[in-house]
Amino acid sequence: MFLTSAAPSCLSKTQAFLDREHKLLIDGEWVSAQSGKMFEVKNPATGEVISSVAEGDAADINSAVAAARRAFEGGEWPSLTASQRGKLLWKLADLLEENLAEFAELESLDNGKPRAVAAAADVPLAVDLFRYMAGWTTKIEGTTIPISVPYMPGAEFHSYTLREPVGVVGQIIPWNFPLLMAAWKLGPALATGCTVVLKVAEETPLTALRLGELIREAGFPNGVVNIITGFGETAGAALAAHPDVDKVAFTGSTEVGKLIVKAAGESNLKKVTLELGGKSPNIILPDADLAAAIPGAANAIFFNHGQCCCAGSRLFVHKSQFDEVIDGVSKQAAAIQVGPGMHPDCQMGPMVSQIQQDRVCSYLDSGLKQGAEAVVGGKRVNGGGYFVEPTVLVNTQPNMQVIQEEIFGPVVAAIAYEDVEQLVSDANDSIYGLAAAVWTRDISKGHQIARRMRAGSVWVNCYNVFDAALPFGGYKQSGWGREMGYEAINLYTETKAVTVQLQ
Ligand code: NAI
Ligand code: MG
Repeated sequence: MFLTSAAPSCLSKTQAFLDREHKLLIDGEWVSAQSGKMFEVKNPATGEVISSVAEGDAADINSAVAAARRAFEGGEWPSLTASQRGKLLWKLADLLEENLAEFAELESLDNGKPRAVAAAADVPLAVDLFRYMAGWTTKIEGTTIPISVPYMPGAEFHSYTLREPVGVVGQIIPWNFPLLMAAWKLGPALATGCTVVLKVAEETPLTALRLGELIREAGFPNGVVNIITGFGETAGAALAAHPDVDKVAFTGSTEVGKLIVKAAGESNLKKVTLELGGKSPNIILPDADLAAAIPGAANAIFFNHGQCCCAGSRLFVHKSQFDEVIDGVSKQAAAIQVGPGMHPDCQMGPMVSQIQQDRVCSYLDSGLKQGAEAVVGGKRVNGGGYFVEPTVLVNTQPNMQVIQEEIFGPVVAAIAYEDVEQLVSDANDSIYGLAAAVWTRDISKGHQIARRMRAGSVWVNCYNVFDAALPFGGYKQSGWGREMGYEAINLYTETKAVTVQLQ
């Protein structure tokens, strides 16, 4: 169902932000790119240019890294107490919350997602993440360790560990949750006392720039957070290869993740964390409550237009219920109100870009050519923006691209199973291991399948449940390390073992 009536215009403060001149945040100042170049920002619902931003490249990355290094080594930031760091993070959360409506509009205009979803999920999750991480600042503790040292009989020691910030961190984020990905990255880095150069996605630079304004307003010292808008091959690659960056944290495609690892290895062996693609299985067992599982399966794939690394893109349904479930999910798909994200009735917006629309449609074409059938959807929506119909594919085969590769669009491939043992092995048969879900009334079975899934997140009788306290990340080629929770704090610190010989 496509919404045809016009979307309302945005708030005047949102418009004022779009109209501002957008520069790079380096050392606490907004500066132009050294090249003087700018690039356009488009509204994916219409293809219209809504703003333009500075095009940072390697030269600007160099300045930003130097500023982050200075802020890490001396001055105000390292001298702040843990409590003071926490207070700054909490203040940032408060400022973000105060500006929720503006952020939701910017996210909708820039990324295409429904404004209502950004207001209910993206922005509140980012606020909560900063508050959660503010709480950790005062709880990053080492341990005391009794040691024996067999070759020093009689000697007495006091040994302990310190957890120290890893240093200058390069963070490269994607466009599917622009503000939230910035928060997932910045939160633990700032909680632990690192300094940051954040390279935002070229498709969606706006909310990170607005967040940069709030970071200044909150009172973070200069150079602690530097924000670079620019392209992956130039600014992103320079950050990953920079010899004075201690860690790079990346979210995006598995292909670029491999380039990041290579760049880190060839430069200075900086630490690397990666959050990459997925092809997550969503399993409906025969005893599931279908009244919950059917809308759950639709939400698993159609939330955020399928542009979710953890999207439930392979739907496993028992043969005996296949027709009923597919009919139900297809009805849900057909009823989704697709249109501009700013429209009050919008439930699904456009793909983020023409490139992404083309990529998703080329997967659809390849699946249909190989014999898959679209029960609903199957093509782009003709019109101004980059819309794709919510699609349910059946008659799929294990060797098809639509089963093996991440589509990153509103396309679910349904697979009928007969035997639960075979199901577990088929569900795990992927190069990815980001998420999985199982729907069942038998809670023991739910736990058992959860244990057997080779995936970083498993949901039972739910999907897409995120929380700042829950670690998120991938097995296999879905990544290295975890975001959020205490795990993220660990990955932004180094452990130092200190040993004192008692005289
Ligand atoms: P991408 O991996 O190219 O972009 C993600 C970020 O990496 C952006 O900030 C980009 O500027 C940067 N980047 C690109 N090339 C780089 C390089 N050589 N060195 C350093 N940084 C670089 O993803 P893209 O092209 O936007 O989307 C392609 C596919 O990737 C999607 O269809 C989807 O399958 C997957 N993807 C997965 C995401 C996730 O959340 N895991 C997010 C975005 C995309
Ligand atoms: Mg790319």
